[in-house]
This record gives sequence, structure tokens and C-alpha cells, in this order.
Amino acid sequence: MEELFAGPVAELQGRDFLSLADYSRTELEALLALARTLKVMPKDRQREILKGKTLGMIFQKASTRTRVSFEVGIYQLGGHGLFLSGQDLQLRRGETIGDTAQVLSRYLDGIMIRTFGHDEVEELARYASIPVINGLTDLLHPCQALGDYFTLWELWGDLVGRRLVYVGDGNNMAHSLLLGGAMLGVNVVVISPEGYLPQETIVQKARALAEESGSSIEVTSDLAAVEGADVLYTDVWASMGQESEQAQRAAAFRGYQVNGELLRKAKADAVVMHCLPAHRGEEISAEVMDGPQSVIFQQAENRLHIQKAIMAALMR
Ligand code: CP
Ligand code: NVA
Repeated sequence: MEELFAGPVAELQGRDFLSLADYSRTELEALLALARTLKVMPKDRQREILKGKTLGMIFQKASTRTRVSFEVGIYQLGGHGLFLSGQDLQLRRGETIGDTAQVLSRYLDGIMIRTFGHDEVEELARYASIPVINGLTDLLHPCQALGDYFTLWELWGDLVGRRLVYVGDGNNMAHSLLLGGAMLGVNVVVISPEGYLPQETIVQKARALAEESGSSIEVTSDLAAVEGADVLYTDVWASMGQESEQAQRAAAFRGYQVNGELLRKAKADAVVMHCLPAHRGEEISAEVMDGPQSVIFQQAENRLHIQKAIMAALMR
């Protein structure tokens, strides 16, 4: 078992997982390899890995995949997951993030948090003495993006030089796919309507990382950039917290739907991805979502395996 945690994985013990840009390419690749190992390893051999460890999971927003994959994941590794609703914690009544972090660090072995402001997660990590894992903020969704690159790496055996085209809102998903792709040598293209492009600071960071890895970053509003795509990726037009903008966004994103017509502009063997939850008939057509090129449910499954790799590496 110890050989699983040798090499670059050994360096990850005790670290936070807030952004893919905080990790080196070697470390991210080591996490992909660990996820693969855990995916195929008999379950009865995994129960010692995090035996007796507890992960607290703070949710200030809804979740299906993140909650279930973390909770099942830590159980399979021999530990226990504790669901902590933001509604019930004293955080809601004004206890500071810093105090919460210091208290939780005395009970738990790791914290997963899903919330709004990315600064809240950074503050939690600053005060916590145990690993903090970003389970989604308005800015980033690193667990999902790493799980998605794991899905592609499993499909192809390699990622370098592939073209991932994200069509839709320049949101947390777009940001994490940009940073992760730039780290791992994937050429990432983000196509968003004017006014909904990804944040410039993230694009600049991705460009700098891409220069090191030898990949390319392109941000545009022109759907012609779908051409040559190995992957066509999309996400909802209104993320959690933006529900009141739904109608205005639906108007702005008209024409940016991933449907059969758009998919025909990608490579013939391109795969379609979506982090879920999806709205069929909005950002993606039902035909494409449920069609033969979709790997959307493999992505969802792989959240479990990548989460286990992250927890095992950080929380041992
Ligand atoms: N993709 C994802 O993070 O799903 P949940 O919001 O259901 O956790
Ligand atoms: N961009 C979406 C992702 C959900 C997993 C949101 O933040 O709601």
C-alpha cells in the first residue's frame, strides 16, 4: 500500500486543494494515476487508507455529486464523512470563518467546503491546520475539472495537444478547465457571449501556465472556434446564486447551445461533456446529452474516484 503514496503523492500530505494552479503538473498527473489505481482496486483493500479519519463537508449551496462522492469516497477509504449544512452551523449566526476553522481543525482530519466567495475558502484554509478542499466556489470548481481531465485521460491515455472547447458562461467551470488544461498540456478554448467571458485574471494565469506546458489558451465569442474540437464542454447559463438572472442570461446565451448542429463542427470523434446538473433544451440539447458522443455520466462517476485520490493524498 505504501508504494501508492510514494513519489509526488507523498508531497501532497497536509496540503490544501483550492485551485489546480496551486499544484504542479507532476502532482496533478500523480493524482490522475492514483485515481485510476483506486478505481480498479478491490474495495476491501482500500479500507485502511483513511481508517479512523473524518472529513467535515460544509455546504452553503446545494449538491448531489459532490456531497455523495465525497461521503461515499471517504467511507470506502475507511473513514467517515460529516455533512455540515451552512444553514445549521453557527457560521450563519455570525461566527467567523477563522474561529470555525480553528475549532473544526481540532475535531476533523480534513474539511471540504462549497460556498460562494472564493475568499471564504482561502480564509478557512488560512486558519485551519488540516487540509481544506474546495468543493466549488463562484470562482473555481477544481475537483470537477480534475475529474473531467481524469475522464479524458482514461479515454485517450494522454491529454497533451488535445483541444477542449468550452461553450457557455465564463464561470467557475470555465475557469478551472482553463487552469487545469493549461497545467496538463491541453489546448483550451472558451467561447462565451460578450459580457459573459471568463475573468481576465484567470485567463492571464492560464496563459502563463500554458506557456510552461506548451499548450494554448483561446477566449472568444465566435462559435467557429468549435472547429477541430476533441471535446465540446458546456455548463448551465445561470449558476447557483444567479437564479434571478435566469431570463436575462437565457436571452444572452441564445445561439450558444451545444446541439447536433454545433457538434458536427467538432471532430467526428469528439466527446461531449457537462459537469451536471444540466438543463436539457437550454445549454445542451437532449439529443446530444443522451447521444452516443456524450461521456457525461462517466464524468459524474469519476468524481468519486478523483475525490478519493485527493482525500487519500492529502489526509493520510
Ligand atoms: N458537478 C457538481 O459539482 O455537481 P453537484 O452540484 O451535484 O455537486
Ligand atoms: N457552474 C455551476 C456548476 C455546478 C456544479 C454552478 O456553480 O452552479
